[in-house]
Amino acid sequence: MRIIVARDPAELAERAAAHIAALLAASRSDRVSLGLAGGSTPRGTYERLREQADIDWTRVDAWLGDERWVPPDHGDSNGWAARTALLDHVPAAFFAVPWGEGRPPQAAAEEYAATLQQILGDRPDIVLLGMGDDGHTASLFSGTAALAETDSDFVANLVPGRGWRLTATLPLLHRARHLVFLVAGQAKASVLARVMNGEPLPSRLVADGAEDVTWLVDEPAASALD
Ligand code: 6PG
Repeated sequence: MRIIVARDPAELAERAAAHIAALLAASRSDRVSLGLAGGSTPRGTYERLREQADIDWTRVDAWLGDERWVPPDHGDSNGWAARTALLDHVPAAFFAVPWGEGRPPQAAAEEYAATLQQILGDRPDIVLLGMGDDGHTASLFSGTAALAETDSDFVANLVPGRGWRLTATLPLLHRARHLVFLVAGQAKASVLARVMNGEPLPSRLVADGAEDVTWLVDEPAASALD
């Protein structure tokens, strides 16, 4: 597990885009999958990736590490955020979570898991993740059922106070070739220190089972690290 500290969000976006571009270029297969993180932190990185000249986006299969159970054009949708910041501007293939008005989220999660099996094969190549100030990542929150899932790769998860979410699970994230956490801001300093000190919060549980993990953080987020 490596940690890269950037001065500020702008440098974080710059360093993250370069790191992701290098991982994409290092993949020797015809197609390479890129799992996208939700939330607000990745936006700067997505916008910077648009200008990264050395990425052949035509070979990239983009998918979502998690999604809120809202229509695809809803402002809370992680797919909407990824499309507006990056995917509408590059020729990558994008596999959105299949929304349906009145549809059970569990059915959508099962359908998406089948789609991921087709595009990822057995192992995701690169997965970007954020981290909440409670240590959650994707939509794996402490005390929720999805965190304990050991069979399915992608499930619906009812999160208290946040409603239904659909999320990659530990089995899927642990099979990723590369995990890249993007964490910025003073509000994350305390929980980042707890995670780095080994507290078994969801982000740590994800990182501990993965082959290659990079934490890209800014100085405010790193300010409580030993
Ligand atoms: C989501 C994300 C979630 C996010 C963290 C951090 O759907 O909200 O997947 O895991 O990455 O909550 O969010 P911020 O980057 O907005 O702090």
